[in-house]
Amino acid sequence: MSVVKVERDGSIAVVLLDRPDQLNALSDELMDELVSTLKELERDQAVRAIVLGGSERAFAAGADIGELAQSSAIDLYYQRRIERWDAIRGLWTPLVAAVSGYCLGGGCELAMSCDLIVASESAEFGQPETGLGIIPGAGGTQRLTRAVGKALAMDMILSGRRLTAREALAAGLVARVVAKEAWLDEAKRVARAISEKGPVATRLAKESVDRAFDSTLSTGLEAERRALYLAFASEDAEEGLTAFTEKRKPEFKGR
Ligand code: COA
Repeated sequence: MSVVKVERDGSIAVVLLDRPDQLNALSDELMDELVSTLKELERDQAVRAIVLGGSERAFAAGADIGELAQSSAIDLYYQRRIERWDAIRGLWTPLVAAVSGYCLGGGCELAMSCDLIVASESAEFGQPETGLGIIPGAGGTQRLTRAVGKALAMDMILSGRRLTAREALAAGLVARVVAKEAWLDEAKRVARAISEKGPVATRLAKESVDRAFDSTLSTGLEAERRALYLAFASEDAEEGLTAFTEKRKPEFKGR
C-alpha cells in the first residue's frame, strides 16, 4: 500500500505523506517512496513546482522511532539515508513545504530541505532527538542554526523547545503563516505563482539563493552573476522581456 499520495494540478504537483496512524513518521519505506516520487515528478517538465505536505494533524513527527529502535548503526548506513536526503535537496523543481500540526525531528529537517515553508497557525516545529538519546542527523543542527541562529537552535535542540508557527515566522524559519484550514491551499497558491515564472530563471535563482548558505559573499556574487548571464541567454528571458513591452502575459517554454 502506498504511503505517499500524489495529485497533479496543472503545472504543479502535490505530494502528501500518508501514514496517518504514525503521524507520518518517516519510515524507510516512506522515505524511499517519497524520493522516487519526487524524482519522477522532477523528470516531468510540465511540473514546475511541487508542494510537499502531510495532514492537518501532522506534517511528520520525525523518524520512525519503532524502526530506529530495531536498527543497528550499520543498518542505517546500508539504508543510504544520507543519499536520500541529498536527493531531495538536489531537486531542481522548487519544493514548497505545506506544514500543519507536528513538524518534529526528521519532519522539521524534511521541511527545511524544501525551498520554503508555508505553515498553518497550528504548526509546531521542534528537534526533540536528544530526548531519545540521539541527535538530528538529516541536517537539523546545520540548517536550523542557519535559519534561526545559534541561540534559538541551541534552545530547540538541547532543551526540546518547540516553536509555534508565529515564532518560526519571526525567527526566519518559515515564509508565511496562514489560518489552520488554509495550510494546503496557500502552499498551492505559492507553488502556482512559482510555476508561472520563467522555469530556467527559477532554477538558476534557487541555485543562487542556495549558494548564500555554503559559500562566501564574493563567491556567491560571482556565481549569481554567471547565473544571470545564463538566464539572460534563455528564450524565456527574451519572451519575458518582450511580453512586458507588448503588455501581454509571457508564455515560458523552459528553454
Ligand atoms: N515514530 C513512530 N511512531 C510515532 C512517531 C514516530 N516518530 N510519532 C508518533 N508516533 C505514533 C505513536 O506511537 C502513536 O501510535 P499508537 O497510536 O500506535 O500508540 C501515534 O503515532 C499517535 O501518537 P501519539 O503520541 O499518541 O499522539 P500525541 O498527539 O499524544 O503526541 C507527538 C504527538 C508528536 C508529540 C508524539 O507522538 C511524539 O512525541 N512523537 C515523537 C516525536 C519525536 O521524538 N520525533 C523525533 C524522532 S527521531
